[in-house]
Amino acid sequence: MLAFALTLLAAAAAAVGPVMALGSTCSSPLGPGTAAPGDAFWMETIKHQGIAAFNPTPSSYQVFRNVKDFGAKGDGVTDDTAAINAAISAGARCGGGSCDSSTTTPAVVYFPKGTYKVTQPLIAYYYTQFIGDARNVPTLLADASFVGMAVIDADPYIPNGGGAQWYVNQNNFFRSVRNFVIDLRQMPASASATGIHWQVSQATSLMNIVFEMSTAAGNAHQGIWMENGSGGFLGDLVFNGGKFGMWVGNQQFTVRNVTMNNVDTAIFSIWNWGWTFQSVTINNCQVGFDLMTGGTTQDTQTVGAIAVIDATVSNTPIFVRSSAPSNGKLAGSLVLNNIRLTNVPTAVGVVGGATVLAGGTTTIDTWAQGNVFAGTGANAPARFAQAGAPSPDKPASLLDSAGRIFGKTHPQYEAFAVSQFVSVRDQGAKGDGTTDDTAALQAIFNQFSGCKIIFVDAGTYLVTSTLTIPAGTQLVGEAWSVIMGGGAAFADQNNPVPVVRVGNPGDEGVAEISDIVFATRGPAAGAIVVEWNVHSNTQGGAGMWDTHIRLGGAAGTNLLIDNCPAGSNNAACSAAFMALHLTPQSNAYLEGTWVWLADHDLDSGGSRQTTLFSGRGILSESQGPVWMIGTASEHHTLYQYRLANAANHYMGLIQTETPYYQPVPAAPAPFSVNSNFNDPTFPSGQTSAFAVSISNSQAITIFGASSSQALIHSFVLCLEADLDGTGAGLYSFFQNYGQACLTTNSCQSQLFDIDAASGVNVYSLSTVGVTWSLSVGGQGVVPASAGPNGLADTATVWTK
Ligand SMILES: *[C@@H]1O[C@H](CO)[C@@H](O)[C@H](O)[C@H]1NC(C)=O
Ligand SMILES: *[C@@H]1O[C@H](CO)[C@@H](O)[C@H](O)[C@H]1NC(C)=O
Repeated sequence: MLAFALTLLAAAAAAVGPVMALGSTCSSPLGPGTAAPGDAFWMETIKHQGIAAFNPTPSSYQVFRNVKDFGAKGDGVTDDTAAINAAISAGARCGGGSCDSSTTTPAVVYFPKGTYKVTQPLIAYYYTQFIGDARNVPTLLADASFVGMAVIDADPYIPNGGGAQWYVNQNNFFRSVRNFVIDLRQMPASASATGIHWQVSQATSLMNIVFEMSTAAGNAHQGIWMENGSGGFLGDLVFNGGKFGMWVGNQQFTVRNVTMNNVDTAIFSIWNWGWTFQSVTINNCQVGFDLMTGGTTQDTQTVGAIAVIDATVSNTPIFVRSSAPSNGKLAGSLVLNNIRLTNVPTAVGVVGGATVLAGGTTTIDTWAQGNVFAGTGANAPARFAQAGAPSPDKPASLLDSAGRIFGKTHPQYEAFAVSQFVSVRDQGAKGDGTTDDTAALQAIFNQFSGCKIIFVDAGTYLVTSTLTIPAGTQLVGEAWSVIMGGGAAFADQNNPVPVVRVGNPGDEGVAEISDIVFATRGPAAGAIVVEWNVHSNTQGGAGMWDTHIRLGGAAGTNLLIDNCPAGSNNAACSAAFMALHLTPQSNAYLEGTWVWLADHDLDSGGSRQTTLFSGRGILSESQGPVWMIGTASEHHTLYQYRLANAANHYMGLIQTETPYYQPVPAAPAPFSVNSNFNDPTFPSGQTSAFAVSISNSQAITIFGASSSQALIHSFVLCLEADLDGTGAGLYSFFQNYGQACLTTNSCQSQLFDIDAASGVNVYSLSTVGVTWSLSVGGQGVVPASAGPNGLADTATVWTK
């Protein structure tokens, strides 16, 4: 029966024939935005016809919700809480503590211009984007009588639940909040008024939000409260007033472009394994970074590692302050690069008054506190430093006009009129998860790229042969529209084929992709999910924002708990040959990109673990400039990040996890090493994936890395799953593998390898469960044992 069905599919594919990209045939190029001054944001007025393809009732389930359609007034007077929460929760969505994840109930909750008074939290349900009118940013006004955790709450605590929450904090994926003013100033200054409770994980973002807080002396307001999670990216935020701008603890996070004005403590951090802050501006605060430090064991975890690049700080007594002195202990690894201080007497200090690094009005080039390693010699001696350190190699192509690492905000096209967009559904694509949309989508790209912004209405668009997104395309999804490759074309690992090709090799031009998920339907061992060929001469002209590659573990992928449960070790449960390939002529700006092979089934009703296979994560052969800002790559078989013959990359922070199932089977099984794709070789004894593997590459800066052997994460998952009562299968998984290796760092010998020919500088590298934090040419150089820093081990700086 199955063979017969496959034959039919192959015949159908042959009948359609290869779909060719011809390059756009449109005659009137897009040009600048033509929205009139009084126009609403295009997203408000575009036809709303997105669907959730795998919802039980896709014909009635509403993806786009305008809060005014649910009765919100936005007049600054009416209490809009109930109306907005009705807009969020309508349609049997995933929340309330009984559903920890789902991909079948996505929503965009849209706020037209106005002032929305609220008296209780707005709950950011799983898979929700809150989007304000980007042209006339709406205000969420906390009323004086406001009660609750925060104006927006992404993971509510269950009342009297003994600490239980709606979602598992490490699995709290797919949220975004954009274009708001959150105003707490009507609340009493003494109230611990909070803008956003953001306890989230990967595929989450905050952007373009202004937090207005009390400026009264001794006030207790805070912008963001985040006590744990595993993120994530946030950026383009402004905090005015308050006791804390961001009060944060989370395994890892990347922050870009935040401004703190008149906040007591701009950033307070209680714990982490590693965070990277890029382009932070701090004006008129008391303390810039206030860090809880001193814990060196898992049980006493405090702030593990902070990396700050391109900060501007003025009129603030203390830039960085730790709660405990470092004095040779590693807790509180800190690396600073390009820090411009104006009237900041203490650059780095300790609670109680000790100064570690004096400030003033000066620029700090590079300074490190922690273990500094140099050279490629075996088992390099750790040298604890609180001193200047070698600077990153920053080619001009990576920098903006002020000499900082370039950054580009997620494009929202707010200057464009709705007539400048074209909807793929209007043009005949179905997005229902079963219709083959290859030809329809290709025809749309061929006709409209460069002439219209292409709006991919929410849905799942199945493609069965390579879809080419030509150079010149600007593509916007809705609630992470899914483009899913499936069928015989992508099944053979010996003949890998791109699902989506962004530009043809040698193409020059713009390519902007936002709010899209690229996926596959299994079996797909031969899928190169995204082949990125486009090159832009404009910085950031070719990029992806809030766009993810999600492999398996979601309805419609055929790679789920039923057919691929943990331990099934079935090669048919393969989701990809490679997730993302940046080819030699390309360049790219990737911000908030999560490249994830699912370790659990998001639609199984309880985070139940799967064993799926994806050969490779991200391969870059690009000559740059390449920015990877807040990216993650997890659970791929051979490697998570691979740079081969690449140059001019800034990568911060990169987060990885090896596959949970390894070493059964041992890497590279069920794939084989393929020299056509510059695969790394696997020395004998290397049975698990590389987190990072770099060969023959130059001018590479890694500014923050958090690389974990996956067992620790699965250990956490097992415990949580068991509490849910669904853990039987997981426990045996857990017993099969054991966790003793975690305490002895012997799960894996090496996972971060650089060959001797490459020029790479690594800062703020945290690893979990591995013997060598860094190796060169297969030989251990940086011993993890030198850097106990809570759960993770940290090397603050490594340069050749
Ligand atoms: C999350 O943080 C809260 C508050 O600090 C803590 O009580 C809880 O145990 C943490 N949960 C996990 C799973 O780390
Ligand atoms: C930084 O954030 C501000 C505030 O949202 C925004 O106006 C600005 O364009 C952002 N800059 C960059 C380089 O992203």
